[in-house]
Amino acid sequence: MNHIQLENISKIYNANSSQAQSALALLAEGMDSIKVKEQTGYSVGLYDINLNIKAGELHCIMGLSGSGKSTLIRHINRLIDPTSGKIWVDTSISAKNKDNTHSEIIATTKPSSAINILELDDKELQHYRQQTVSMVFQHFGLVPHMTVMQNVAYGLRVRKMSVSERHEVARHWLNEVGLPNLEHSYPDELSGGMQQRVGLARALATDNPILLMDEAFSALDPLIRAQLQDQLLELQERLNKTIVFITHDIDEAVKVGQRISILNGGRLVQTGTPNELRHNPADDYVAQFMSAKA
Ligand SMILES: Nc1ncnc2c1ncn2[C@@H]1O[C@H](COP(=O)(O)OP(=O)(O)OP(=O)(O)O)[C@@H](O)[C@H]1O
Ligand SMILES: [Mg+2]
Repeated sequence: MNHIQLENISKIYNANSSQAQSALALLAEGMDSIKVKEQTGYSVGLYDINLNIKAGELHCIMGLSGSGKSTLIRHINRLIDPTSGKIWVDTSISAKNKDNTHSEIIATTKPSSAINILELDDKELQHYRQQTVSMVFQHFGLVPHMTVMQNVAYGLRVRKMSVSERHEVARHWLNEVGLPNLEHSYPDELSGGMQQRVGLARALATDNPILLMDEAFSALDPLIRAQLQDQLLELQERLNKTIVFITHDIDEAVKVGQRISILNGGRLVQTGTPNELRHNPADDYVAQFMSAKA
């Protein structure tokens, strides 16, 4: 069952629609994004991305710096709107009553209960962000003048949950990520690894079914990073969320990802399980990534 579907998504930055059309025409002829930038002056974020992410899947997005990973993930919570294309999200799937049969390979039709999130008005978008998607950022994104507890409970306060209830939920998630007894600390009193755990607890506390993680563990040293990867996998066993996880580290992608999508110059080169990519790389770029795996 598909949870998120990107359909022909392209993003040309800082261009009006006719300028974007000229860049898209060059991309359609096969010109790469660097040449398009040279010729038109416009940056290509993404070109013609078609990607299905299944319910309950931990899906990694991989690629070199500038390949479009952050651009892609930021479309899913509409921090970025595309130049063209559609983004379908099945908002009937909740974290609790999810259909966990994700054995099917990519379905070709959109799920009947999916909505095109580009059509949401401001109020509906606010609701979508409160109820459906949460994001963990690379540099923690914690509010410095709020305590750990207030940071984790923030999304619940926005939802108007009572103080005692939201504190109970926040305490539960701080415990789950291995940070009991730190609720009264401020972010700058914590190590990077601890701050990232707070960021994770904050995203999990909302109970939203989709979790977006943009290089969430990249700033951490290797040992702490490995611990957080293990913790994420252990939590995912129980939570069965749909997780979109960005990394530029192939070892991390192979460890945590059920499937991996590889981007190059704003194009989606290949989606597959680690084994599929290893044994059947679509091109040299994918093969080089897979052979770089320790
Ligand atoms: N706000 C912006 N304005 C103009 N161009 C942008 C903007 N954001 C990204 N780009 C361009 O879009 C392309 C993709 O950028 P993106 O940030 O998505 O890459 P990335 O894969 O996340 O890279 P990194 O690994 O460095 O985070 C790059 O060429 C980048 O310069
Ligand atoms: Mg990025």
